[in-house]
Amino acid sequence: MGRKKIAVIGAGKVGATLVQILAYKQLGDIVLWNRTVDKAQGIALDILESAPVEGFDVKIKATGELADIKDSDVVVITAGIPRKEGMSRDDLLAVNAALISSFTEGIKTYAPNAVLVVVTNPLDAMVYLTMKKTGFQKNRVIGMAGILDSARLREFIAMETGASVKDITTLVLGSHGDTMVPLVRHTRIGGVPIEDIVPKEKITAMVERTRNGGAEIIKLEKDSSAYYAPASSLALIVESILLDKKMVLPCSAYVEGEYGINGIFMGVPVVVGAGGIEKIVQLNLNDDEKRDLAASAEKIRALVSQMK
Ligand code: 2OP
Repeated sequence: MGRKKIAVIGAGKVGATLVQILAYKQLGDIVLWNRTVDKAQGIALDILESAPVEGFDVKIKATGELADIKDSDVVVITAGIPRKEGMSRDDLLAVNAALISSFTEGIKTYAPNAVLVVVTNPLDAMVYLTMKKTGFQKNRVIGMAGILDSARLREFIAMETGASVKDITTLVLGSHGDTMVPLVRHTRIGGVPIEDIVPKEKITAMVERTRNGGAEIIKLEKDSSAYYAPASSLALIVESILLDKKMVLPCSAYVEGEYGINGIFMGVPVVVGAGGIEKIVQLNLNDDEKRDLAASAEKIRALVSQMK
């Protein structure tokens, strides 16, 4: 049996960083597709030249031909225009919808058995579009957002309390946007509910900072949106698929009645394994959480309807 094959569509900062992390993890051989092939070639070569130092044995092929993604086990779609300061993720709808639509036929043709992972914004709408355009079954189309949003909240809690990030667990559900739903009640440090340890106003501030986590990076960097933490979060999904780890991760998944919501992609806890999304995990939410999630879902639905 040969190595697994991972295709990364788009050699922007998220795509390039993802390739580097995937190479370190040695999950499989990598194909990096970019419209401007020289850019992908430069990135692939630079990362490959670190292989003797880092000691990883994977191939990285740069290409401008979608045919080269043939028989990939996982295809990660990172291509898209990123936000600039002052923009909302939703402002990217039309331009990124057109971009995604330009790949879906090729993905269908060359990688019909792949699990697709999408990171392009506005996330929940772009994952939906990817499923519709490829016709892939819902379990084989996954959006990355909740891992990133949860990681941000975990890091903010670690900064605030000095606790190890490894001891901090949380879940951020709903849309990858202003209405995301961080579940404070399910946030724990070493198993202890955060509400027992951290004052309420501090928790509220961290939740707010999480909602604005993407914008905070753009404001600081000026010419770039986040890419290190998004790429790490993507790599975790790829790892859970290719190693069939069955990790429970908050991802954008197609819901059909789960959490009382139907027919959209939104952030929910899912089991990720070789089959993609193997299960949507049902959490018991209280009335406030249900209301927030329903409001977040309506925001996604309104955005998706703009594409029709
Ligand atoms: C973020 O939250 C880019 O949406 C991405 O940083």
